[in-house]
Amino acid sequence: MYNIIDGKKLAGEMRSEIKTQALEFKSRFKREVGLAVVLAGDDAASQVYVKNKIKACEEVGIKSFAYYLPNDVSQNQIEDLIKEIVGDDNIDGVLVQLPLPPQIDAERVLKLIPSDKDVDGFSAENMGKLCIGEQCLVACTPHGVLKALEAYNVQIKGRKAVIVGRSNIVGKPLAMLLLNADATVTVCHSKTENLKDECINADILIAAVGKAKFITAEMVKPNAVVVDVGINRDENGKLCGDVDFESVKEKCSYITPVPGGIGPMTITMLMYNTVTAAFRRKNC
Ligand code: GUN
Repeated sequence: MYNIIDGKKLAGEMRSEIKTQALEFKSRFKREVGLAVVLAGDDAASQVYVKNKIKACEEVGIKSFAYYLPNDVSQNQIEDLIKEIVGDDNIDGVLVQLPLPPQIDAERVLKLIPSDKDVDGFSAENMGKLCIGEQCLVACTPHGVLKALEAYNVQIKGRKAVIVGRSNIVGKPLAMLLLNADATVTVCHSKTENLKDECINADILIAAVGKAKFITAEMVKPNAVVVDVGINRDENGKLCGDVDFESVKEKCSYITPVPGGIGPMTITMLMYNTVTAAFRRKNC
């Protein structure tokens, strides 16, 4: 019998705590916590993500500053905007939605965001601190995965966690978080040989590949905890994850659905990071 990890419900509970903290910030410092969101181009998925992030800000009482740039924006234009935003004292967090248009060197843009306003946790400083277990802003999706596992009392310590996907945004920071929580961690990727043999040993299996229904039942150990980070469309255009939910669920002890699993947690952790960044900038 499997249990659903209800990310939507958990995200709702966390957002009400974050709202309380945002209110406390406002009453102590006489301004709202501020988040700047930069979207360049017309990528459909990015537009939906940004809309949801701005909506979440409204829900928790964070003031959002949205900047929309055209598809043909130049490197100088976007860099000038970021330089202006990062210097604004009313802005506690800066998020540049990825991917950026192909003419833009994203690395150069992201490097302009100081680590104390890097609410995505993507900077070398935040990633490095995560790696050595120091306090930092942690990338939102991996952080959301960890919070979800903790909320459902999933034992991490001593257990074998297998992550499929080695991206800088999810796979690598998640490996560090799980390692810091005393799991034995394996990171698999597109060049991994015998992927099924790796996955079948996982007590905690995390799919972050970006391929619809990539993880099938024969790859899953009986009673494993399966976390699905993917957001894809299936052959009928329906939203689905990287896990073939219908076949896999019967083998799991816990499983996250798509939608309603890690997605809402990711945005919630962005709100959490923004409020955290705001207080830390005030030295508290
Ligand atoms: N594009 C896809 N995921 C993310 C994310 O977590 N942050 C940003 N900035 N862009 C993304």
